[in-house]
Amino acid sequence: MFRTKSIERSIEDTEAPEHRLRRNLSALDLTVFGVGVIVGTGIFVLTGQVARDTSGPAVAVSFVIAAVVCGLAALCYAEFASTVPVAGSAYTFSYATLGEFPAWIVGWDLMLEMALGGAVVAVGWSGYFAELMASLGIDLPPSLAGDHATINVPAVAIVLILTGVLVAGIKLSSRLNLVVVTIKVAVILLVIVAGLFFVKSANFTPFIPPAQPTPAVEGLKAPLIQSLFGLTPAAYGMFGIFSGAAIVFFAFIGFDVVATAAEETKRPQRDLPIGIIASLAICTFLYVAVSLVVVGMQPYDRLSRSAPLAGAFRVVGQDWLASIISVGALAGLTTVVMILMLGQSRVFFAMSRDSLLPRNLAAVHPRFGTPYVITIIIGAVTALLAGFIPLSALAELVNIGTLFAFILVSVGVVILRRTRPDLPRAFRTPLVPVVPILSVLACLYLMLNLPAETWLRFVLWMLLGIAVYLFYGRRHSRVESGSRVAVK
Ligand code: ALA
Repeated sequence: MFRTKSIERSIEDTEAPEHRLRRNLSALDLTVFGVGVIVGTGIFVLTGQVARDTSGPAVAVSFVIAAVVCGLAALCYAEFASTVPVAGSAYTFSYATLGEFPAWIVGWDLMLEMALGGAVVAVGWSGYFAELMASLGIDLPPSLAGDHATINVPAVAIVLILTGVLVAGIKLSSRLNLVVVTIKVAVILLVIVAGLFFVKSANFTPFIPPAQPTPAVEGLKAPLIQSLFGLTPAAYGMFGIFSGAAIVFFAFIGFDVVATAAEETKRPQRDLPIGIIASLAICTFLYVAVSLVVVGMQPYDRLSRSAPLAGAFRVVGQDWLASIISVGALAGLTTVVMILMLGQSRVFFAMSRDSLLPRNLAAVHPRFGTPYVITIIIGAVTALLAGFIPLSALAELVNIGTLFAFILVSVGVVILRRTRPDLPRAFRTPLVPVVPILSVLACLYLMLNLPAETWLRFVLWMLLGIAVYLFYGRRHSRVESGSRVAVK
């Protein structure tokens, strides 16, 4: 269960003609990919919720804390992506360092981040879509759109359309992405610059509202760390800033997805670290600026829960700016769903190439050069999730799954330095093992700030994954049988 797959063999597998992906992405493409998947529901929706319920105006500090945690993990991701430039991200990396079973666990865990994350964002997309339709005078029935829909039709539709785009080829996707990312970043900059004119310093006091008990949030719904220490669940104050950070962490998810495009990158050793670190840095700047401006525009306890950025502009009487922001948000959420599904397909691709999932899933389309079978399956599952399950609370499950993957990657960097010091590393994590250890502790701390019920769901999902591995993956593993991809 702890057999590893050598780095050389991982790279060799990518050269086999029937499994080869087309290499045409540059460092700039990757940065755009990164920003495309990072900026989404987190900044457009969660900023308002977290400021209102958890952090107050100090939500900007929550963003900084989450950014520091991600920065530490990003330094580890950059080293592994530059050393093991193979599709599959944390999965492939764990296979090379920790062994097959931990790798399977990570692959299974990444489904929480990408497929579930994609579905969560698709539901958010549907909410913005409904709002935009309403502003045009078309009211969608609540049974067909929004959080309480029986079948969330717009969410299903956007997932299926994007599945088609992904099957048709990555270059098309990356071009479309460039256009949308430009719109999205322009809208965010618009919020920052135009919003500055409406900021009132009174809204910043108190910057950290005094801690308040929240009796409604008890038992399984309270952050695990507060229950562990027997504290009365509280909002605001220092605890509030940290629980806020565990939630807005969602806003940063995606920089790691850049690593899943390794096999489609022209010069992965150089370009992946640039893509990962640049996209994280850009988003951190945008988030801190936007959150400061928005809490300065409106008292934090009156921010909108579903569309805080647009809402703040409506309150100051700038309806047309609010509408532009809504359109930008819609465009922004589209690329997030798309790239999360893309990342998920690449992880499954790597897993089935290793026969931990059925091999024939890894087939590459003869004309489009994309893993189309897997992409279609993921599209169907994500559409089902988005269409039928109310997912708002599950965003926290996405966070815990992602933080767990970050921990394993950080541990993997230290292990690989010991077991394979000889490998060329275009990017080296500074101060090993200090930075990876800090990364593990920081991720763990954020995880503890998530509700106990999120932990419970996470453990159940992982147990299911272990069962699947024992009944399928362990018996079929290609590393076990010693077979290689036939090289023609
Ligand atoms: N970071 C992505 C978002 O905020 C997942 O939507």
